[in-house]
Amino acid sequence: MKYLITGGAGFVGSHLTDALLSRGDSVVILDNMSTGSSENLKGVISHPGLSIVQGSILDASVVEGAVAGVDHVLHLAAALGVFNIVDKPLESLRTNIQGTEVVLEAVRKFDKPLFLTSTSEIYGKNSGGPLNEESDRIVGSPLKSRWSYSEAKAIDESFAYFYHLEYGMPVRMVRLFNTVGPRQIGHYGMVVPRFVSAALAGKPLSVYGSGNQSRCFCHVTDAVAGMIKVIDSPDSIGQVYNVGNNSEITILELAKKVIAELGSASEIEMVEYEKAYGAGFEDMERRVPDISKMKREMGWAPELGLERIIGDIAAHMGR
Ligand SMILES: NC(=O)c1ccc[n+]([C@@H]2O[C@H](COP(=O)([O-])OP(=O)(O)OC[C@H]3O[C@@H](n4cnc5c(N)ncnc54)[C@H](O)[C@@H]3O)[C@@H](O)[C@H]2O)c1
Repeated sequence: MKYLITGGAGFVGSHLTDALLSRGDSVVILDNMSTGSSENLKGVISHPGLSIVQGSILDASVVEGAVAGVDHVLHLAAALGVFNIVDKPLESLRTNIQGTEVVLEAVRKFDKPLFLTSTSEIYGKNSGGPLNEESDRIVGSPLKSRWSYSEAKAIDESFAYFYHLEYGMPVRMVRLFNTVGPRQIGHYGMVVPRFVSAALAGKPLSVYGSGNQSRCFCHVTDAVAGMIKVIDSPDSIGQVYNVGNNSEITILELAKKVIAELGSASEIEMVEYEKAYGAGFEDMERRVPDISKMKREMGWAPELGLERIIGDIAAHMGR
């Protein structure tokens, strides 16, 4: 199979590229290199099955040219990272809504299957317990840039789903929960690489808010394995699946664990949310995925724990 991966030079996209090339598929990457980089692809850059188009998903002619020549489109390109979204809300809205519409139109025109990478952010601040695919979205004011990524990705899902219903387009979707591992960049607000890099440098680990907010972290290798199960399955058309790890940890405990795992002398500093993200920032207390649909229908469950995640990120950072 020949796949187009939009955002294939990014963190998740580059791991997906590695996995598809290693099983014998060909990959065309379309990426504008805004948060992605050729460094992420250095292990496969001269692979005969890989080609790279540098361009934007907002450019319909570039997208059409790329979509026309492949068998299947995997849409990962997006503007993300809390700092990115809060700093450049318009650019992220345009990329995440108009960009996806451009991709959908090209996919319809050339009659290809589409796989869409959505996010647990669509559930917003619903902290009620493990979130299943039917759980409600609870989001704050549309005037808060914090929620624009959630809104945009939710609209993407609706667009893709109604393209499936109205045009019969084969669409598959996953909602990734916090996915972490080597190649992820910390300075857009991703907590695990930020902590690992601080711990390796002996600098303080900044915990925002009370530190009692909890998250679950999934190794990118596990997430990509789950994505490929959904991409390959004939039964996943018209479906959305939560892909994540359901083992929960508070951010303060995470900071302590990173320090202990890496034998670091770093200290922990508590930082008010407002200092980190500006006034009016809202966050959710918990975010835990219910992954029973993936287990039941795709026979998938995550296998790699936090120790392995921290170790792999540290090794990638040159430890
Ligand atoms: N990493 C996570 O925890 C996580 C969680 C939920 C969902 N996701 C989703 O997974 C996908 C990949 O995210 P990631 O973590 O790899 O982030 P990333 O920033 O590393 O990847 C996004 C890629 O899209 C590219 N891109 C951005 N704007 C573009 C444009 N206009 N045209 C072409 N390319 C463009 C970037 O250069 C980058 O390579 C995204 O759709 C994201 O919403 C990620």
